[in-house]
Amino acid sequence: MQNQKVALITGGARRVGAVMAQRLHAQNMRIIIHYRSSAKDAEALCNTLNAERANSAAILSADLNNIEALPALIYSANNIWGQLDVLINNASTFYPTPLGTVTEPQWNDLFASNLKAPFFLAQAAAPLLIKQQGCIINMVDIRAKQPLKDFSAYCIAKAGLLMLTKVLAKELAPRVRVNAIAPGVVLWPDDESEYDEATRTKILARTPLKRAGTPEDIAKTAIFLINQADYTTGQVINVDGGRSLGY
Ligand SMILES: NC(=O)c1ccc[n+]([C@@H]2O[C@H](COP(=O)([O-])OP(=O)(O)OC[C@H]3O[C@@H](n4cnc5c(N)ncnc54)[C@H](OP(=O)(O)O)[C@@H]3O)[C@@H](O)[C@H]2O)c1
Repeated sequence: MQNQKVALITGGARRVGAVMAQRLHAQNMRIIIHYRSSAKDAEALCNTLNAERANSAAILSADLNNIEALPALIYSANNIWGQLDVLINNASTFYPTPLGTVTEPQWNDLFASNLKAPFFLAQAAAPLLIKQQGCIINMVDIRAKQPLKDFSAYCIAKAGLLMLTKVLAKELAPRVRVNAIAPGVVLWPDDESEYDEATRTKILARTPLKRAGTPEDIAKTAIFLINQADYTTGQVINVDGGRSLGY
């Protein structure tokens, strides 16, 4: 079989990351599913992918808050198939931090998964990606540019991830392309209390395409960035139904 790309997806066991894992796998890529607490989901997804194509998926666990563990995560990823072509910084924590209540542990937690880990993972992965002429995709948020009230720490971290995308695109050119995807709503948070029904309706009413997106929309964009966007680096693609156009 032709040399298949190897993609490491952080937070790939569930939700958007899991759909990206399935869709990239369907494009004949080999997938490394990183997880922290969703071991069962990661194992089940890995088994499904390996049943479809033998030796095409693997799992690795790491807490991205532990920055010292990140070079080892990349080392282990490279050891599985001896190459790394794609790093998708997808893992994220998301919860409100209303001003006046924000603690340093909350700040550190939100910054670790959304900004610090993507930086140190990219740094550790850079030599491998350079070797493969690979690429990095950072999952940002339209809220990296448009602040969301009560979510200051998250928005600031995602804004940093946006700049990280541009800085890395310069640092790693010409061999590695670095781009970002900025979703609007593609999957509501599991915790229903974050967005009640009225808030959801209001958000969708303000979205020009009048509906939420899907994780499939994100996966299709990732496939485009990996396989077709050969002359694109340092860019952010909004996948948001037009919501970032303003209202
Ligand atoms: N969902 C949306 O509509 C939406 C909108 C805008 C932006 N985005 C962005 O798109 C990406 C995917 O969204 P999502 O909603 O699918 O994400 P999510 O469910 O909030 O998080 C994905 C995974 O991140 C992992 N994670 C979080 N903190 C971690 C840590 N410290 N160490 C290791 N893993 C950690 C968790 O893995 P475990 O379960 O294994 O612990 C979690 O399942 C995120 O970057 C998000 O910010 C999504």
